[in-house]
Amino acid sequence: MKILVTGGTGYIGSHTVLSLQEAGHDVVVIDNLANSSSESLQRVAGLTGKQAAFHHTDLLDEPAVDAVFGQHDIDAVIHFAGLKAVGESVHEPVKYYYNNLVGTLNLIRAMDRHGVRSIVFSSSATVYGAHNAVPYVEKMEIGATNPYGRTKEQIEDILSDLGAADSRWNIALLRYFNPVGAHPSGRIGEDPQGIPNNLVPFIAQVAVGRREKLMVFGGDYDTPDGTCLRDYIHVVDLAEGHVAALNHIAGKAGVYRWNLGSGTGSSVLEVLRSFEKALGTSIPYEITGRRPGDLPAFWADATSAMADLSWSTTRSLDQMCEDHWRWQKNNPNGYAG
Ligand code: UD1
Repeated sequence: MKILVTGGTGYIGSHTVLSLQEAGHDVVVIDNLANSSSESLQRVAGLTGKQAAFHHTDLLDEPAVDAVFGQHDIDAVIHFAGLKAVGESVHEPVKYYYNNLVGTLNLIRAMDRHGVRSIVFSSSATVYGAHNAVPYVEKMEIGATNPYGRTKEQIEDILSDLGAADSRWNIALLRYFNPVGAHPSGRIGEDPQGIPNNLVPFIAQVAVGRREKLMVFGGDYDTPDGTCLRDYIHVVDLAEGHVAALNHIAGKAGVYRWNLGSGTGSSVLEVLRSFEKALGTSIPYEITGRRPGDLPAFWADATSAMADLSWSTTRSLDQMCEDHWRWQKNNPNGYAG
């Protein structure tokens, strides 16, 4: 199939382009490069021997999006493009709602005009909000707690309404838990701009000497070691989950929701220890106050994806940290070189 990947130069996007090409698909990428580099696609091409067609296009530019569909015979879309920093979304909500919602509406309107009605959407475990007990199950009532999360939830609503109204659409909503790691080649990985918000990219930058020490946000939670528990998933497992979802919905009308997670929680200190093992030395850290908005513990019920997609995670936390470290060590400044 020919797959359009929006946001295909980003962290999860680039790994998914690689998995799609390895599975035999042709790939077209749209990206506005707001938070990423097209160098990732050159590296993917070096690994797979296949070059994705690249369009430096913003989803807010509807005629340009339309032109991409005019130029390629697209069979299905995987939609990653969007702004994703929780803190920034609290301070600039309009920017988030405008970019993520209007971009998605432009995309699905262009898809409809060109008769492309299969879409896999990059949602997030953040849609489960703060009111659900763990583990999170797809049928739970959702309710995100910040503007970024609400854009994910609202896009889920838009796509669900579309699927209910028009039985020609095949729609997969994938709720990711905490993606970390990198392709084992060390050629592609996460390249956050500025100070990383997320745990493993921050640890990696301490390990490579770009930051002094890790601040562990809270050591007094009601968890085994007092730090928060999260469901970390290797980005290559996550990418393969997209290919499995795409295959499953092909030709099957309806709206499907799947958690993509491992089904277990690891603490901040467990992640730190695992990264230290990969590094072969200790990493300085300090336990500080809790980060506002953090939940003590959450992880996926991963049984639906296993039952429906025959997909489950296969890579351990140690592998995530080894692969993340290889990428960071080989690319201390990310794609900037
Ligand atoms: C965060 C977002 C979530 C988003 C996800 C994407 C928040 C509140 N949530 O999830 O909406 O979908 O990223 O991956 O921002 N930690 C530290 N020190 C650090 C960084 C993190 O101790 O410097 C801790 C956090 O308190 C948390 C754990 O590490 O317990 C994981 O944090 P993070 O990687 O930011 O992911 P989430 O907060 O789970």
